[in-house]
Amino acid sequence: MSQAVSGFSKLSKEEKINWIATTYFANPSEAVATIKQYWNSDEKLQQLHDEFIENTISNFYLPMGIAPNFLINGKYKTVPMVIEESSVVAAAAKSAKYWSTRGGFKATVLNSEKIGQVHFLYKGDVQKLEQFFIQTKPKFFKETESITKNMQKRGGGILDIELRNKTAELENYFQLHATFETKDSMGANFINSCLEQFAQTLKTEAQQFELFSEEEKNIQVVMSILSNYVPNCIVRAEVSCKVEDLAEKNIQNPIEFAEKFVQAVRIAEIEPFRAVTHNKGIMNGIDAVVLATGNDFRAVEAGIHAYASKNGNYSSLSHAKIENGIFTFWMEIPLALGTVGGLTSLHPLVKIALEILGKPTAHELMEIVAVTGLAQNFAALRSLTTTGIQEGHMKMHINNILNQFHATKEERITIAKHFENNTISHASVVELIESLRK
Ligand code: MEV
Repeated sequence: MSQAVSGFSKLSKEEKINWIATTYFANPSEAVATIKQYWNSDEKLQQLHDEFIENTISNFYLPMGIAPNFLINGKYKTVPMVIEESSVVAAAAKSAKYWSTRGGFKATVLNSEKIGQVHFLYKGDVQKLEQFFIQTKPKFFKETESITKNMQKRGGGILDIELRNKTAELENYFQLHATFETKDSMGANFINSCLEQFAQTLKTEAQQFELFSEEEKNIQVVMSILSNYVPNCIVRAEVSCKVEDLAEKNIQNPIEFAEKFVQAVRIAEIEPFRAVTHNKGIMNGIDAVVLATGNDFRAVEAGIHAYASKNGNYSSLSHAKIENGIFTFWMEIPLALGTVGGLTSLHPLVKIALEILGKPTAHELMEIVAVTGLAQNFAALRSLTTTGIQEGHMKMHINNILNQFHATKEERITIAKHFENNTISHASVVELIESLRK
């Protein structure tokens, strides 16, 4: 049923649930029971979660799993992952173990600059605006001192502010393009507060700039907001070893494997249809750690996909080569992450995740996240270029199907035995369950 409602936000949680249940469900009490089944019995904890967002009615569980044995820059890390897709954690763990005996992962943060912009309209003489900007620039720093004081103590702050003329693309459109260092915080609030103060200073100072005409004084600020595109906040993750050392149970011929692997990456470099799926596999690892550590996965996704198109075509984030008998597989990606502030100090499981990771700095977390993405990509390409992806996927997926059918212990044993020697597909699993139940 489609129905509008007014004053929904003012209803109590109980009233909201009742409205949902009676409006959308034939059996309202059953719906209420399901919604409430996911409430936490610890009222304080429930309240904490209720207050993360608005109009909360319940909690939506996602599994939290662990991928151990990640050897990163010579140190072992155990990586917490939050994701709903089966096989992802298993694949990460398998890759981690594999590379731990081949030198491990190397990761480096290349730079960590964040970006924010004040978008404004100015009608008039551009040279006068440039002169105004040079004269006003120190004021932008001065008038944000109360906001930047603490960040400066931690070694961060505003790095630079530029005036950018965008009128060739859009009439009267200019920007204050500012760069920031936000140390261990992702910095969204800090950046946005600075930008809103810049906008204020811009408008006030323009009114007092003597060279401006009345029309020129009337600078119109359209908006002030950070950018989630951070092409100068880059981390590099890499694995490499002698081609012959790639050999293992499923890789009998390492030269053939390495060549096919490099070819698979090349395909993703030039073919957008493949690149999107290739990068999706990387994001399986990245998002899972980003979520577990309380970071903003939408920001990370948006920024990374923009970076994947930086040369005008959507392309692979990772690259591979064989040179002088050495196989190298690497990736450079933008990542704006925080290990303080935001959800990191509020969500009890985020605190646990950060503790498991050894309380990383934002730079260390960038390295861990990038490595997990690369490991995930390696696992996917290894399966795709050897056994095919379905073998591993269906083995994991079979559990979901069995749960869907509330399979008994006995049924599970019989089914597992049967599929040791038969190809698994959704239909074949369902068929077998049904035949067992006849
Ligand atoms: C599935 O979630 C991810 C893969 O499709 C990635 C890939 O194809 O590289 C397996």
